[in-house]
Amino acid sequence: MRIKLEGADKRGKVSLEEAIERRKSRRAFKRTALTKKQLSQLIWSAGKAPSAGATYPLELYVVIGKECAEDIDAGVYHAKRYSELDLHKEGDIREKLAVACLSQMFIADAPVSFVIAAEYERTTRRYGDRGIRYVHIEVGHVSQNIYLQCEALGLVTVAIGAFYDDEVARVLSLPEGQKPIYVMPVGVGL
Ligand SMILES: Cc1cc2nc3c(=O)[nH]c(=O)nc-3n(C[C@H](O)[C@H](O)[C@H](O)COP(=O)(O)O)c2cc1C
Repeated sequence: MRIKLEGADKRGKVSLEEAIERRKSRRAFKRTALTKKQLSQLIWSAGKAPSAGATYPLELYVVIGKECAEDIDAGVYHAKRYSELDLHKEGDIREKLAVACLSQMFIADAPVSFVIAAEYERTTRRYGDRGIRYVHIEVGHVSQNIYLQCEALGLVTVAIGAFYDDEVARVLSLPEGQKPIYVMPVGVGL
């Protein structure tokens, strides 16, 4: 299944300075589903990060719970070109994801989690070992965009770096060669 995302708004209700000022990690989520518009806007923001030598090593996966996003079934989706969602794996895996993240169970409460995965080869092929550093820097750019976009939309998130890499890769069925680097649960704050 492929879902076309909506166009992003280029003008929000919160200024960039307000979003930077207010940004905070928040870990309590309401059950409220995200709208397709919110999801589209967040994915758009993730795709607007810089990339070393335009090597684009990152892939964004979206873990969606049951009745957690408008008109979208539970599953793991690949945010292809940051403009559509390709169903990658069916089912609500939020609890398994939370357990893989050292049982930070608040992750299972969030309607949606973004998982930023990297294929290091795309960048190390050009830059050698230094490419590893570039990939990690790049993930930080993507994460910050998601943090700030959440603030601008009145949503909450937290960057999660503590997880069992192999377990997260397994519960998402990530393609061979792609490693999870960051998890960001997103939702309406409690
Ligand atoms: C690399 C990195 C990894 C992190 N991993 C986790 C995590 O696994 N779980 C968590 O609850 N917060 C995690 N955080 C969020 C930090 O705890 C948080 O950013 C810090 O306490 C500062 O708070 P603030 O984001 O509200 O300014 C992580 C942050 C970073 C930058």
